[in-house]
Amino acid sequence: MSSRTIRIGLCGLGTVGQGVWKHLSANRSALEARLGVRIDLAKAAVRDPRKVRAVTVPAGKLVADPLSIATDPTIDIVCELMGGTGLAKDVTLAALHAGKIVVSANKALLCEHGAALFAAARKGGGRFFFEASVAGGIPIIKALREGLVANRFKLIYGILNGTCNYILTRMASEGAGYPQILADAKRLGYAEADESLDVEGWDTAHKASILAYLAHGVWVKTPHMIVDGITQITQADLKYAATLGYGIKLLAVITRDFERNELFVRVHPTLVPKDRVLANVNGVFNGIAVMGDVVGTTTYIGRGAGQDATASAVISDIADAIVLLTTGRDITPVATTAGVAELLSVPVQPLRLSPLERIRSRYYVRTTVKDRPGVLAQIATVMARNGVSIESVIQTTAERPEAASLILTTHESDEKAMRATLNALGRLKSVVEKPLLLRIGDFSE
Ligand code: NAP
Ligand code: HSE
Repeated sequence: MSSRTIRIGLCGLGTVGQGVWKHLSANRSALEARLGVRIDLAKAAVRDPRKVRAVTVPAGKLVADPLSIATDPTIDIVCELMGGTGLAKDVTLAALHAGKIVVSANKALLCEHGAALFAAARKGGGRFFFEASVAGGIPIIKALREGLVANRFKLIYGILNGTCNYILTRMASEGAGYPQILADAKRLGYAEADESLDVEGWDTAHKASILAYLAHGVWVKTPHMIVDGITQITQADLKYAATLGYGIKLLAVITRDFERNELFVRVHPTLVPKDRVLANVNGVFNGIAVMGDVVGTTTYIGRGAGQDATASAVISDIADAIVLLTTGRDITPVATTAGVAELLSVPVQPLRLSPLERIRSRYYVRTTVKDRPGVLAQIATVMARNGVSIESVIQTTAERPEAASLILTTHESDEKAMRATLNALGRLKSVVEKPLLLRIGDFSE
């Protein structure tokens, strides 16, 4: 082992930070032997240094100012594990400007400011590593940028939020209520500090943006995506979906049309046929299917949130950072569209974001209607007028008096026709509750 000591500063010692502290401390000797250096957990910054924590941090190592770690010339690697896009951005930029390596788990920051962070790293001579930002302990960033570097990616889709998958799984299997399950997800350290990021789909969208960047070299921001969360899904939907042969999963879907040079990024609850691998990825687990033109489909499954899984990903970045510091060996850079065009000496074709209404899918519609003669015919007429073909209908008694729940599935249609259908259904006097629209995802694996 060389006599070199690598000094690490953790900005944030919450769920993830404490996991990193705990596992780096426990496995220090093995990591030091593998990497050939001494590792010093030099400092940690927190908001409240008096808070009782599960890890013991020696006096003098705990500070209240994360910027002091980012700018400390004796710190080699800064781990930003606070979250948010305010102070976290300042800390990350300060460290990158100072030429340091930043390891981050912050997907919201990357989606919002990824281009600026990479530009700051290039300018300041720093590096930005972010394995923990997508899919917890699954090394999906490494897979896309290293293992699958030979491929072009027509389709990437998957379950990217552990909290939502945990909630949907327990709602389906136990019939437990949503508030209780969400409280458990928070207690277990799966949910974001602001849990609306999870359940409204934004966290999945941030992760989809990062995967789209890795696969296609462009940053897609959330206003250019469809982003629907799981808050409208009821236990009844999960039951009806199961009767129809599906599970409901919150999926990110990233589709590239190479002929038109277009990209779609969308996030929505999706009915997945029960015999598909992803329909059986349950609890806090995430699952991602990546279709490469050379390798075919590869699928990755593992814990997508929580202290230990996320610490595993952060420590893998720390190990890459140490290799870079000691040998100069860098990880494979992201292949930007401009970079690839330059390599091949072809003009850069700007990648367009496809109009979202062009998405084609089969659909599930749940609505509550007055239980009167002729109502089903009215619904069918509205759908027919919009060119939407019904595949199946289930009618059951609704909780309201003299009302019925209607669950329809359609043959393949497009977003534009479905939105027009939903608006028209919402205007019918016989429809007593706003209809819910879910997509049916029949991706071949
Ligand atoms: P957390 O438990 O809320 O921890 C946040 C930490 O940051 C706490 O130690 C907090 O200090 C510190 N902090 C917050 N604001 C600060 C400030 N102004 N000054 C100094 N310290 C400050 O969050 P987490 O779950 O560990 O998540 C951290 C990051 O990892 C987020 O970006 C999150 O999206 C990401 N992530 C989380 C998971 C997961 O499963 N939890 C998985 C992947 C990625 P106090 O302890 O004193 O409050
Ligand atoms: N809140 C996130 C989730 C943490 O539940 O997936 C992991 O990124």
